Amino acid sequence: MLGTEFRKIFDREKITFLAPDRSTLDLENTNSIANFFEKNLPESFEKIVDCAGWTAVDRAESEREKCEAVNVSSLKNLVAYKIPIVHFSTDYVFDAPENFEIPENFERAPLNFYGETKSRAEHILENSEIRWWNVRTSWLIGEFGENFVEKILEKSRENLELRIVADEIGRPTFAADLAEHVVKFLVKNSPASGHFHFQNSGPAVSWVEFAEKFLEISGRKNSVKKITAAEISRAAKRPKNSRLKNSKTPPPPDWRESLEKFLKNLSA
Ligand SMILES: NC(=O)c1ccc[n+]([C@@H]2O[C@H](COP(=O)([O-])OP(=O)(O)OC[C@H]3O[C@@H](n4cnc5c(N)ncnc54)[C@H](OP(=O)(O)O)[C@@H]3O)[C@@H](O)[C@H]2O)c1
Repeated sequence: MLGTEFRKIFDREKITFLAPDRSTLDLENTNSIANFFEKNLPESFEKIVDCAGWTAVDRAESEREKCEAVNVSSLKNLVAYKIPIVHFSTDYVFDAPENFEIPENFERAPLNFYGETKSRAEHILENSEIRWWNVRTSWLIGEFGENFVEKILEKSRENLELRIVADEIGRPTFAADLAEHVVKFLVKNSPASGHFHFQNSGPAVSWVEFAEKFLEISGRKNSVKKITAAEISRAAKRPKNSRLKNSKTPPPPDWRESLEKFLKNLSA
């Protein structure tokens, strides 16, 4: 989802890049990485924008080795080539109190295995000798890949009742906005290494409030039932609070405007 947005911007901005897929650069395979950097010398890269990751949060609980290989070992392998890196992490590294905007230096305490691997990846960056920028984001919505808006859209087309969680609070993040922001502040610029928080701005909402805004904008009339996270059976526990405080870069666009734009593009 996110990688595709970077390709579009790099093309538009005429930034030279390689975007190898898994068949050219398998991050779980050290030989594949070594082959890649034999053909494309590490010195020829200014930065890595590392959008790869294991993102199946529930499956991570039962497929721990695979999740760890992609989210932790692969980063260890990449960092060895000493190229400055922009890496992506998640609100799931935290278990913060409710009604609280989580600052960049807040203590990590992941509640699920996916979050645990992302936390360990952050530790690798913190202890590396390269320049690094770790961007924590949440609730990603994009044109490609699985996301909440698409799920709701599908159900709303079939006129089904929507049962949506009301006790997890955060802000959606549009992949296109995230990529624009990262290119502007972390690809074209090189601030001091550290953790960055990126969510769209606008009010923090529950998933159900987000869905209600979606229904309002798209003019759909599905009935919505509020449920608690405990009522759905999911293998991985989620944090109740996913509000990330961004104290390092200017505020990105409001998620309500980005949602309108996103829906307009979908229907175009
Ligand atoms: N989605 C969210 O809501 C969310 C929230 C917070 C943070 N993040 C973080 O944001 C980043 C981007 O997420 P996303 O939603 O764009 O993920 P995504 O759509 O699931 O894409 C992940 C990409 O990683 C690639 N990949 C996985 N294993 C690989 C390997 N061994 N070698 C090479 N490529 C591999 C996948 O390739 P294939 O297509 O070949 O599988 C896929 O293109 C991730 O670090 C994620 O943890 C996402």
